[in-house]
Amino acid sequence: MILRADGLRKLYGEFCALDGVSLTVDQGEFVSIIGPNGAGKSTLINILTGMTPPSSGSVRFKDREVAGIGSVRLARLGMARSFQLVQIFPDLTVLETLQAAVVSRLGRGTRLFTSLARDREVQAGALEVAELFGLAERRHVPARQLPQGDKKLLDVASAFALRPEIILLDEPTSGVSTADKTAIMETLVAASRRIGLRAIIQVEHDMDIVFAYSDRIIALHQGKVLADAAPAAILSNQRVIDTVIGRRAATG
Ligand SMILES: Nc1ncnc2c1ncn2[C@@H]1O[C@H](COP(=O)(O)OP(=O)(O)O)[C@@H](O)[C@H]1O
Ligand SMILES: [Mg+2]
Repeated sequence: MILRADGLRKLYGEFCALDGVSLTVDQGEFVSIIGPNGAGKSTLINILTGMTPPSSGSVRFKDREVAGIGSVRLARLGMARSFQLVQIFPDLTVLETLQAAVVSRLGRGTRLFTSLARDREVQAGALEVAELFGLAERRHVPARQLPQGDKKLLDVASAFALRPEIILLDEPTSGVSTADKTAIMETLVAASRRIGLRAIIQVEHDMDIVFAYSDRIIALHQGKVLADAAPAAILSNQRVIDTVIGRRAATG
């Protein structure tokens, strides 16, 4: 087991966004977290990645308590994430964006940023990730000029540049066309194999993507785990279909 959460609760004032969530993720798993808007998916990702401390409960990554330790320290331990809303710097080129991620992975701080172009290791690391994600030919293009699908890809690639052991993705394909979604997922899975990623956890709304790629699906509803099972078992869970998946997926 690589990641384990026990009894996570998160209160925002009186409001309980997560109410006793427990889960485990094993070596080699691709786990999807699904649920309607407001179910607590992003809150859960924020807690699992150390960005937000839980009100109570624990998160263990590689047998170490990591709740609330912060995403920078967690990245150094081998956990990376991407965000629901792409967080790229619009004026940086593709390569510069990846270089910035590599610099943070190497832990040299941002002072080096001005002399990035001269740093061979940073250059090589960034280029390697660009190639892994099919972005090498457009490495000098400013991020803002990329189509939405490639912006998402660059965001995911930046997380990979941290050379993580596990990765958590908050809606890696949101806001892109169905065709682009599949391309992003194929690239992501191929890149994961190449770097030997140990687990992927994603929040995803698109049920075609969820069912095509997941080993296991965790359905959240109103801050609680409604179901945690293999895709086939999820599809026969009427409560999950009624509250999360809806008629479209249930009928076809
Ligand atoms: N920082 C916050 N302060 C107050 N309420 C929040 C905060 N973040 C999330 N919430 C509330 O917690 C609930 C779960 O939010 P979120 O985790 O973003 O859901 P999801 O990602 O499943 O759509 C929502 O009702 C949201 O309004
Ligand atoms: Mg969310």
